[in-house]
Amino acid sequence: MNALDTLDRPLRDLRISVTDRCNFRCVYCMPKEVFGRDYHFLERKELLTFEELERLARLFVARGVEKIRITGGEPLLRRELERLLESLAALDVDLTLTTNGTLLPQKARLLADAGLRRVTVSLDSLDDEAFRALNDVDFPVRRVLEGIDAAAAAGLPVKVNAVIKRGVNDGSILELARHFKETPHTLRFIEYMDVGHTNGWRLDDVVPAAEIVRTIDEVYPLEPVEPSYRGEVARRWRYCDGSGEIGVIASVTQPFCGDCTRARITADGRLFTCLFGLRGHDLRALLRGGATDEELGEAIGGVWAVRGDRYSEIRSERTLDLPKVEMSAIGG
Ligand code: GTP
Ligand code: 5AD
Ligand code: SF4
Ligand code: SF4
Repeated sequence: MNALDTLDRPLRDLRISVTDRCNFRCVYCMPKEVFGRDYHFLERKELLTFEELERLARLFVARGVEKIRITGGEPLLRRELERLLESLAALDVDLTLTTNGTLLPQKARLLADAGLRRVTVSLDSLDDEAFRALNDVDFPVRRVLEGIDAAAAAGLPVKVNAVIKRGVNDGSILELARHFKETPHTLRFIEYMDVGHTNGWRLDDVVPAAEIVRTIDEVYPLEPVEPSYRGEVARRWRYCDGSGEIGVIASVTQPFCGDCTRARITADGRLFTCLFGLRGHDLRALLRGGATDEELGEAIGGVWAVRGDRYSEIRSERTLDLPKVEMSAIGG
């Protein structure tokens, strides 16, 4: 049963946040002034259990979901995550995870054995000083690179995501490109977005994807590549010398809402149909209120059927101040 929303977009991807906590305080995501000591993170009993998540995931798959991404906060902080992965792997979907890489040295093998198919690691700079300032917990680049190596050694294909913020790490673009060009990992650059309210986003902070591509192309010539699947978020470019490819995710300058097939669940069980949503639909209340599979499935289908989200396409001065969920809650 494949539901279409009001803009004829099917439901294909489910992104599950398993925790709102993180061991980083990236300045563009969880700035310390807001996510400091007094910040109220979710309590354990508020989080969906693995059993609840598996049940929801199964219902989403029955409605057309083919890819499941585990996110956070930092998902590897959730204890025994491999247990959840094992049960999701049985659903036979493209099962992947977004992480800051810090815990991969200990966990990569466990995750691969549990059935994770690939992994995406966030890494915004190779310059140690710039990276320590960005994550704001003084975490060195070297240990994220060790995490990437551990994932690759465990047989997991790796993508690397770099959010570029003007004046902060735009000077790191070429070095990142040069480094990952020599590896099998796919590097993707992400335009800095106005998610949430705490990062003080300004349009001037965005480095447009076209500028990122131009910066690299001037040194390492690039040519465009066709998308690998409908609705792919990243636009692909390949090095003309055959040494691999990069992607750019231009959700500010070239929005891709027209093909957006993504549903998101926060760690406390709210269903969002857009990264820029406000409240979400409370699936946990249904789960814990004794809803049957049929009732839950209908609730999910109903939310999708009335969906008309296209925030990035209508972004303007006016939308900037609309109330929105934080990235660390919804998981990117
Ligand atoms: P693959 O399955 O590996 O192709 O990954 P993906 O294309 O789903 O991308 P990923 O999950 O790595 O997302 C990378 C970044 O793109 C996120 O962290 C967000 O910043 C941005 N992004 C992903 N999905 C959306 C979306 O639906 N809307 C917007 N505006 N940005 C998105
Ligand atoms: N703009 C773009 N991407 C962001 N991420 C977090 N905050 C933002 C933002 N404001 C990305 C991270 C990571 C993923 C979880 O979301 O870099 O790749
Ligand atoms: Fe943590 Fe990722 Fe947000 Fe950085 S971007 S604070 S690593 S959730
Ligand atoms: Fe999808 Fe909303 Fe992102 Fe547009 S802004 S691509 S509708 S999540």
